Amino acid sequence: MSHDQLPTDNPAVVTCGLPYANGDLHVGHLRTYVVGDAYTRALDRIGQQAAFVCGSDMHGTPIAVNAAEEGTDPEEFALAYHEQYEATFPQFNVEFDNYGHTHDETNTETTREFVRSWIDQDVVIEKEIQVAWDSEEDQPLPDRYVEGTCPYCGEHARGDECDEGCQRHLEPGEIEDPVSTLTGNPAEYRTREHKFLRLSDFQEYLQEFIDRLEGTENARNQPREWIEGELQDLCITRDMDWGIDYPAEDDPEAGETAEELVLYVWVDAPIEYVSATKQYTEQVGTETYDWEEVWKPGGEARPGTEWDDDWTDDAGEIIHIIGRDIIQHHTVFWPAMLRGAGYNEPRAVLATGFVGIDGKALSTSRNRAVWAEEYLDTDFHPDLFRYYITTGSGLEQDVDFSWDRFQQRVNSELVGNLGNFCYRGLLFAHRNYDGTPDADVSEEVREAIQDAIADFEDAVAEYTIRDVADVAVDLADFGNGYIQRNEPWNLVDDDPEQAAQVIRDCVQLAKACAVLMQPVMPEKAETLWEQLNEDGSVADAELSDALAEPPAGFDAPAELFAEIEDEEVEALNETLRERVAAASEDADSEDDEDAGSETADSADGEAAADFEPLAEERIGFEDFQELDLRVGEITAAEAIEDSDNLMRLEVDIGIETRQVVAGIQGLHDADALPGTKCVLLANMEKAELFGYESDGMVLAAGEDADLLRTHGDSEPGTKIR
Ligand code: 2FM
Ligand code: ZN
Repeated sequence: MSHDQLPTDNPAVVTCGLPYANGDLHVGHLRTYVVGDAYTRALDRIGQQAAFVCGSDMHGTPIAVNAAEEGTDPEEFALAYHEQYEATFPQFNVEFDNYGHTHDETNTETTREFVRSWIDQDVVIEKEIQVAWDSEEDQPLPDRYVEGTCPYCGEHARGDECDEGCQRHLEPGEIEDPVSTLTGNPAEYRTREHKFLRLSDFQEYLQEFIDRLEGTENARNQPREWIEGELQDLCITRDMDWGIDYPAEDDPEAGETAEELVLYVWVDAPIEYVSATKQYTEQVGTETYDWEEVWKPGGEARPGTEWDDDWTDDAGEIIHIIGRDIIQHHTVFWPAMLRGAGYNEPRAVLATGFVGIDGKALSTSRNRAVWAEEYLDTDFHPDLFRYYITTGSGLEQDVDFSWDRFQQRVNSELVGNLGNFCYRGLLFAHRNYDGTPDADVSEEVREAIQDAIADFEDAVAEYTIRDVADVAVDLADFGNGYIQRNEPWNLVDDDPEQAAQVIRDCVQLAKACAVLMQPVMPEKAETLWEQLNEDGSVADAELSDALAEPPAGFDAPAELFAEIEDEEVEALNETLRERVAAASEDADSEDDEDAGSETADSADGEAAADFEPLAEERIGFEDFQELDLRVGEITAAEAIEDSDNLMRLEVDIGIETRQVVAGIQGLHDADALPGTKCVLLANMEKAELFGYESDGMVLAAGEDADLLRTHGDSEPGTKIR
């Protein structure tokens, strides 16, 4: 079964990974929330009813550890950050329909209901396991209280996740060479009884689920390896005080220690998605938005591990936006948790890459970060950040934040292109016609706007947020070309009718820009809407309003965007440099004493290793020209069976078709590759891999093998210079 294309008649919910309430927000966090907000607004624009919910992640060892370090109670500690986040998001125009937290009553009750359902379904079992223990402190060491070596990839890892290596979730007792983060002593192991969700019961279901799942390729492909292998039971309890108590009273099999256990943070955290939606319904009423239609259609949970087409056809559209380090939680554990409690499943998971700073990984311990507060202290409008971060790269890729690049992109794309077009078009219209000239929109411009609307709709349906954001700027680019080509200033006297036509078209294009830019730059779109003297809010406009007639009269416009000056950027760069320099000595010494004990920022992009250093040695243009780079189009793709990571591709490079062996298995879907443009190094030495000749090399970036491709109309075979 595949999903109907968006928009559907069912309500949707868009969620973002919950931030741990344990530190200040920075641009790494903001990427996910801005994308979530822009995407929800875009859904609304195409006519898809959608709620946007999230909340603070209050439990777990990240908070317990930090609160203890500050000598505060974890609840008080986490609530303070929760309130800070609640106040900060709207300042970036991130407007959740409801922003809750995992420690509130709704989530406590909903979480316990989930666990009760699993117990009723007989998918919870008790097991004796070895847990890490600090004998000096005489206490257990769950999750972040212990560090060591990942048993899967050998990298340094935290107790419950391989944050520096393969990103896998680690079960209690799995980490090798465990060391207590409390005392730095090697940890011992003690036997404890814990509760587990029997994931293997869901294996068949998960295998079907992953075929239906939409979203980014990383989220759809990475889990296959886990789902197809042996699924380990998921330990759902922890030896801690801080968290939601395990409902031992509801578990006939509960042993004595069950009373002392709290639920693992990754149990109650995703359930907050449901709780936050429920609270939204409580605020607006079921007539406006019914959470059950999304999560439990018909108001009835359907327990069982079999997929049920009839039931879920009418279920709402659940779309999760997360950092790529928590794909496993959202595509393996969470769907099983939902299924076990008889809830609907996610329709799409969109996993974003990380945010780097000036070409290096963001690091809070080294203070190499751009903090939310710091951005808000500048004069830069939040919509500029929103534009930069949504268009800086494709969703799956890492995006680099640098003030220089920010300045460059704002000045060229927003000031020089979008702002410039709207300003000069509307100013000309106001000066010469007091508003919109009396003429019909030309066929050429009508078609350009219709194409832009279609591109916008496709981008939303395909979850390509960058394309959603690009549509308005591309249309303005068209508008600038149009005005330049037609030179209305030369027509006013000689051909007044044609001048009026051109300016009429420009006003329509400006109006279309307002409608199309609104999801990503909501306040700037509102300003443009007001300049056009439109009634109401652009947020209530429909896509078709891009072609509706603008008001006859409007005042002189003001510039939408202001140029960012070099001095402002230099000052911000200097502040960042000083901060990193001041922090790096401290961080170095802390890292030595306390390797890796930094608390979680997993959704914020900190987990990535530093980018590789730039090559010192320069090459001449002639050296570059020796590379015969060609535009290619993949015509066939198949996994090479005996290999873990290789795929055999056929690539059309115009002159001929090449067979190429590429290390992209597991990272790209073989069925989706044919038709994809790529860049091929055609004069790469031939090689033989697994019995296949590889005649060329396909270029790709990063560990996810992000395939380089061209985006215009260049034919296969075109030389890349
Ligand atoms: O990794 C994290 O930062 C978690 N706080 C994300 C939780 S997302 C969800 F599932 F709740
Ligand atoms: Zn690992």
